[in-house]
Amino acid sequence: MYQSRISGLGKYLPENVVTNKDLSKIMDTSDEWIQERTGIRERRHIRKGSEDTTASMGAAAARIAIERAGIQTEEIELILFATLSPDYYFPGSGVLVQELLEIPTCPAMDIRNQCSGFIYALSTADQFIKTGMYKNILVIGSENHSGGLDMTTRGRGVSVIFGDGAGAAVITREENPERGVLSSHLHSEGKFAEELSLIGPSTNRWVPEILEANDPSDESYFPFMNGQLVFKNAVVRFSEVIMEGLQANKLSPEAIDMLIPHQANLRISQFVQKKFGLQDHQVYNNIQHYGNTTAGSIPIALTEAWEEGQVKEGDLLVLAAFGSGFTWGSAIIRW
Ligand code: UT7
Repeated sequence: MYQSRISGLGKYLPENVVTNKDLSKIMDTSDEWIQERTGIRERRHIRKGSEDTTASMGAAAARIAIERAGIQTEEIELILFATLSPDYYFPGSGVLVQELLEIPTCPAMDIRNQCSGFIYALSTADQFIKTGMYKNILVIGSENHSGGLDMTTRGRGVSVIFGDGAGAAVITREENPERGVLSSHLHSEGKFAEELSLIGPSTNRWVPEILEANDPSDESYFPFMNGQLVFKNAVVRFSEVIMEGLQANKLSPEAIDMLIPHQANLRISQFVQKKFGLQDHQVYNNIQHYGNTTAGSIPIALTEAWEEGQVKEGDLLVLAAFGSGFTWGSAIIRW
């Protein structure tokens, strides 16, 4: 069996910065409320009329990751694309990236696991590398939230949190068994499926039915979040799945050099930091600048941490996520 490691990282954020103050001009909210509850100061939103899409942002991040991995795009043997905001209902955005990167043909798979999407995709890539089937896999997490949020006071509990952006990683075969992805751990609990969801339009509510109802008060077009329930489950599951990963590798929390949590809420990250007794420099947070970019959040944060020199060879990295599904997961990586 082979080992897999991250050989290249890239990110792409739309240039349009939307501050809390900007939001307070279009809905009843405030910089104070948003910062106090979430830590977010600003996020990026694709500018109306811009050519950025979920797939194009993913492809832009991927080009950087591929170049940093020192390979040619043709050497990518599989694309795993994690998103909850694909360009189209179908086909998935992975095939669009394959076309944008001008890879002649290759398998492309979309992963529908929301905030945990990048961890699920990384774990899937790891299995394909372990069995020897592929040597270079492109894993992308990308989201275009801004076009689908309710930007009125009605939607403020959700819309102030989410931002747009993409991150990408090239996952490569590694011969050294002590380096790379040491293990990954995935979970779901579908009884909470509707607690953080976007129900319509869907096969539960096909478009003709929605058009016929023509009801502007219908909120099912927008994401719904039971914030407090999500928060309570997140702090428990984050902690559990990090501990599960450490125990699987016979490691204690003291071994962690860097924890990169999914950027759901700065308060959740701080809770987890305290739980594991980590110092500020051992937990990477950038939600202050980008909001919650769901599947994009871990690869964006990991790329930024690496660009800043905060991830060094030999470091023990822990990635962890929790979100809609509910789904959650972790990956333990020796860099
Ligand atoms: O990626 C994983 C998924 N997401 C998460 O992990 C998020 C988890 N949940 C959270 O982070 C928090 O629940 C939120 C930040 C979303 C909300 O914080 P909260 O402390 O749970 O607030 P709440 O929903 O209980 O609302 C408290 C009050 C309400 O007003 P009343 O009923 O007390 O008068 C809301 O209407 O705050 C009001 N509110 C707002 N006020 C100003 C809700 N959203 C806003 C807003 N600005 N944007």
